Amino acid sequence: MNNRGIVIFGGTGDLAYRKLFPALYNLHCLGSLPDDYKIVGIGRRDYTNEDYINIINEWTKEFSRLQYTEKDFEEFKKRIKYYKMDMTNMQEYNGLVDFIEENNMKDGLIYYYAVSPGLFGPISEGLKSANCLSEKKNSLEDKSCCMGDTKVIIEKPFGNDLESAKEIYRNLKSYFKDDNIYHIDHYLGKEMIINIMTLRFANAIFKGVWNREFIDRVDINVYETVGVDSRGGYYDKSGALADMIQNHLFQIMSIVAMEEPKDSSSKAIKDAQSNVFKSLKEVSPEEIDDVLLMGQYKGYRDEDKVDPNSVTETYVAMKLEIDNERWNGVPFYLRTGKKLHKRESEVVISFKSTSEGVPGNNIIIKIQPDEGVKINFNIKKPGTETKVIEEVGMDFCQSCILENRMNTPEAYERLIKACMDSDKSLFSQWEQIEISWNFINRIIDLYKKNSNKLYFYEAGTKGPKESF
Ligand code: BG6
Repeated sequence: MNNRGIVIFGGTGDLAYRKLFPALYNLHCLGSLPDDYKIVGIGRRDYTNEDYINIINEWTKEFSRLQYTEKDFEEFKKRIKYYKMDMTNMQEYNGLVDFIEENNMKDGLIYYYAVSPGLFGPISEGLKSANCLSEKKNSLEDKSCCMGDTKVIIEKPFGNDLESAKEIYRNLKSYFKDDNIYHIDHYLGKEMIINIMTLRFANAIFKGVWNREFIDRVDINVYETVGVDSRGGYYDKSGALADMIQNHLFQIMSIVAMEEPKDSSSKAIKDAQSNVFKSLKEVSPEEIDDVLLMGQYKGYRDEDKVDPNSVTETYVAMKLEIDNERWNGVPFYLRTGKKLHKRESEVVISFKSTSEGVPGNNIIIKIQPDEGVKINFNIKKPGTETKVIEEVGMDFCQSCILENRMNTPEAYERLIKACMDSDKSLFSQWEQIEISWNFINRIIDLYKKNSNKLYFYEAGTKGPKESF
C-alpha cells in the first residue's frame, strides 16, 4: 500500500519539534519518503503554514542527524502542512478530514498521537465521526482515512497503571485494527539495544556463558542529567517507575534475559521477551525495601506544575529476579533517575570470579551517549614472576568509528520507517505492556502499604546515598 503521509497530533509539542520532524527530515534526505508524502502538524496555535515551517526549520537545524542544508530543507518543507484545530472539539474534525482529502493523503496514512493519553479517545472519536458518516466508511475493511489500514502510533506512557493502559488499548481497538496500533518505546529503536541480540546470539564467546552458571549479576542503568523541565504536569502524575522503568528499562532487561527467539520474526522475538516478564519472581511484603528504593531530587517540588508536597519519585532502584532455568538466583538491578551526575545508559554483565581473590570479568554494553562494548578481564601483571593479576579492558567504541554517529539512524527515524513498512518488531507488544504493568502495579501496592519511604538527593549527584 502507498504511504501518503503522517498526521501528527501534538504538532507544536516538544516531541514533534525535537524528535519527529528531525527524524522525518533524515528520512526525506535518505529518499525514504515517497515523492508525494506529506506531513501534517496539528496544534491549537494560530500559526500560518509559513510560521510553522520557520519553527520546524530551526529545530531541524539543531536536531537532525544528517547534515542540515538549506537546499534539502527547501525540498523537505514542501511536505509540511500546519493545521490549526482544537482536538477536543468534535465539530472541527470534518475540516481536518477534508484537509487530508484535499492533500491526497488518504491511503496509508499514519496518525501519530504525540499528545497526552487523555486526548487519544477524543481524537479517535473525532476522526471517526468526521470521516465515517456513511455505513460503508464505518467498516474496518474500508481504507478511508481514519479506519481500515490507517495506522496509529501512540507514545508511552501507555496509561498510569494496568487499568488505564487497558482502557486506552480497548478504546483504540474500537477504531483501528489491532495490527495497525503501534506502541512506541523509542529505546527499542536505539542502535545498541537492537545490537544486544546480535551480541548475545551471534558470538559463541558470549552465547555460552550468558547464564547463571557464569553470571553473578546484571546492572541496567539509565542515568539522566536533565530534570523535568517543562513536563512537570505530566511527570508529577507519572514518576520514574511509569516514565522509565515500566517501559524502557523493562524492555532492555527482557532483551538481555530472553531465550534465543526461535526465528527472526517479530512474533518470535516478542514472545521470547514476554516469557521473561512472565518469569519475574514475585516480591513479598517483607522484601519490598530490599527490592525497591525511590528517591526525589531536592528542588523537584519547586518545578513548574509540580505539587509542592509531591511524593513522586524521580529516582528508582529496583532489584529483580527471573525465575527460570537460565537466571535463577541472578539479581538484575535496574536504576534510573533525573538530575544525576551524568547522562549515561549502560548494561553491565558481571561474571563470577573463577577463584577467591580473582576479580570477576564484566561486559559493559554502552547504550548512550557513547555506543560500544567494553570487556574487562584479567591478565598476569606484566614483568611479575608470580601470578599477580591485573585487570585490563578491551574497548570497542562504535560511536567513534561511525563518524560522529552520522551513519546510525536515530531511534525515531528507524521507528517511523518501521511503521511505514508495517514492521512491528521494534515496537512494544500489548502483552508485554500488560504483564509489565501488572508487575509494576503489584510492586507499587506493596511499596505503599509496607514502605512508602522516599529518599531525597542533591541534584547533580549519584542519587540517594541509600540506593543499592
Ligand atoms: C522518555 C521519558 O520516554 O525518555 C523522559 O519520558 C526521558 O522522561 C526520555 O527523559 C529519555 O530518552 P533518551 O532517548 O534521551 O534517553
